[in-house]
Amino acid sequence: MTATVTSTSAQPAPAGITFPDGFVWGAATASYQIEGAAREDGRGPSIWDTFSRTPGRVFAGHTGDIACDHYHRYADDVALMADLGLASYRFSIAWPRVRPDGTGPVNVRGLDFYDRLTDELLGKGIDPVVTLYHWDLPQTLEDRGGWTNRETAEAFADYAEIVHRRLGDRVATWTTLNEPWCSAYLGYGSGIHAPGVQDPVAALTAAHHLNLAHGLATRALRAAGAKSISITLNPCAVAPLDPDSAADRAAAHLIDGLANRIFLDPLFKGHYPADVLAHIARIADPVWIHDGDEAIINAPIDVLGINYYTPAYVSAAPGHPGPLDYPGSHGVKFRAPVGPVTDMNWQIEPAALTRLLTRLHRDYPGVPLMITENGAAYPDGPAENGEVHDLRRIEYVDSHLRACHDALAAGVDLRGYFAWSLMDNFEWAEGYAKRFGMVHVDYTTQQRVLKDSAKWYSEVIRRNGLG
Ligand code: NOJ
Repeated sequence: MTATVTSTSAQPAPAGITFPDGFVWGAATASYQIEGAAREDGRGPSIWDTFSRTPGRVFAGHTGDIACDHYHRYADDVALMADLGLASYRFSIAWPRVRPDGTGPVNVRGLDFYDRLTDELLGKGIDPVVTLYHWDLPQTLEDRGGWTNRETAEAFADYAEIVHRRLGDRVATWTTLNEPWCSAYLGYGSGIHAPGVQDPVAALTAAHHLNLAHGLATRALRAAGAKSISITLNPCAVAPLDPDSAADRAAAHLIDGLANRIFLDPLFKGHYPADVLAHIARIADPVWIHDGDEAIINAPIDVLGINYYTPAYVSAAPGHPGPLDYPGSHGVKFRAPVGPVTDMNWQIEPAALTRLLTRLHRDYPGVPLMITENGAAYPDGPAENGEVHDLRRIEYVDSHLRACHDALAAGVDLRGYFAWSLMDNFEWAEGYAKRFGMVHVDYTTQQRVLKDSAKWYSEVIRRNGLG
């Protein structure tokens, strides 16, 4: 399939801006969200296969069994990326394709797929950026406790090394984990993601083991000669609802600790923050943190990936239960979205991205930042002439690129931007009901159609800026 890129009239026209030379323009996806072929070529079951089959967990019982059928259509999809002019493509590797049981024999046919995909990308001049874990944990590992079991962290490092052995000669950038906050807190705290556990202690244990998994994998990748190592976090752009209220500021500090500093501090400072440790100790004795772990997590990395979508405003609300995805956060209330929202009901506030990037640059200096995800869900589908006029997505991305540019102007070392997502896909608990793609996917025919946003983004890439 080929796609023709034409310019679109549907674009806002504020002042022009240009990005630095070499600024990386990309798009991102993840294995379970697009691949399908869930039982092919020796792939084992993942926690998302189990979870999506459990009644009531995913919207309308949707599963990733077929998804975008990318496993079979990858060559067409790469051709489409090339048509768009992407410099880089961020995709994830399905651990259960590579090691169906998590720790047992390596499934060469699984690795073969990523080998073909990598070569296809390189053949089109697109730089492959690999994420090793984007949530599809082998079910066998979950049966032994998943991320609450320290052995999962060790197994992850082995798996990282196996993938690197196969692709390391062609893939330069290695991202260990995608959004460990989600894996830990949505997976084991609120249970809205696989494996669907609701247990604050499990959530905190998982957070540490994910940190450790990153550290162990970083060590293994470095020893194997990986050129560039990163992790992608989704820092919460949290602020006190009333900045003049000490209680609201304390609430924001708590959420910042649980969402952000619990990952960032061991990573860059080599220790958990004292206030976070004290908070955890009020919930349970953190016996899962062993001497020496923080030093392992503190291994130097080359780039920090940031996924950003929406801000959070919190206030102190005594007696309020607090969200389950922030363990022990009773007494903290998240404000309902205000102003324009996307189809996820996520508040749109580009300035919060500038604030977040500036803060990360200030508090964790020295590491280049990369936007590894940013984008918006909107339901727009093909009009009668087949075109998809997703003006709101263009506005969203335009405004967030301007926010990135503001951060650059403030001195932030931001190296690139990956749109989420290349194409509509399986949006986890929301199934196929939410569409984040710049490319529309008809799930009945698997036909891909460039939305107006894809054509517009292609122009942004070509100009290295906004008109
Ligand atoms: C972050 C996750 O990494 C991705 O898988 C998800 O689809 C987007 N956010 C949108 O929710």
